[in-house]
Amino acid sequence: MKIILLGPPGSGKGTVSENLVKDFSAAHISPGEILREEVSKETTLGIEIKKYIEKGNLVPNQFIVEIIKLEIIGKKDFILDGFPRSLDQAEAIKDIPLDVVLYLDVPEKVVIERFSGRRTCSNNHGYHIKYLPPKKEGLCDIDGLPLSKRKDDKPDIIKERFRVYHKNTAPLVEYYKKKGLLISVDASPAPEKVYAEVKKALKKISKK
Ligand code: AP5
Repeated sequence: MKIILLGPPGSGKGTVSENLVKDFSAAHISPGEILREEVSKETTLGIEIKKYIEKGNLVPNQFIVEIIKLEIIGKKDFILDGFPRSLDQAEAIKDIPLDVVLYLDVPEKVVIERFSGRRTCSNNHGYHIKYLPPKKEGLCDIDGLPLSKRKDDKPDIIKERFRVYHKNTAPLVEYYKKKGLLISVDASPAPEKVYAEVKKALKKISKK
């Protein structure tokens, strides 16, 4: 299936994606991960990109849109986690057929606590010290790598990410609703409950 995961920062897009990849072996395409990888390599492009991520702003389209389009081309099943994030980006992929846009709906006050407890390994496996703890403290269950906090999970940057989300990304809810592609999932409950809802939604789609 061709799936877009839409939702505010911390709504659980990455967590749902990890489950979907396990269950459906679809390709996981995350601009956030692609961009952070480039930053970690300290390339000229990475140094430029870092300025935007560190402020909680969107990276300009010229650095990301073509990369994502190339990632999508030829893939039968994919999960787009965090793309598109603006009407411009949505228009850039309007010719690519989609099965569903899953909107992870969760109020800001619910997700704020998620950021302080988020931990990730360098292979992007995600945890939460309270809601999704690793089996061994500080180490990834999958590859044993050390877990760390994300650099943009600081209160002032989180505030800006939410501002950017409301201004640029939230209008996509209406955009995809009008196209008849949007399914809302309540993303406030525990991760396993959210994922159960996601699977229910996908089952409905596959029966259509
Ligand atoms: P990106 O990495 O995509 O960040 P984001 O959208 O802010 O989303 P997050 O990764 O913070 O959260 P998530 O929804 O994936 O939640 P997660 O599953 O991790 O983007 C980072 C930056 O890259 C952007 O700010 C921008 O600069 C740039 N960028 C990215 N895409 C771009 C684009 N298209 N164009 C331009 N620039 C772009 O969960 C969060 C935590 O909560 C975890 O600890 C998790 O374990 C826990 N958790 C998950 N679900 C639950 C639950 N149901 N209950 C309790 N805890 C939960």
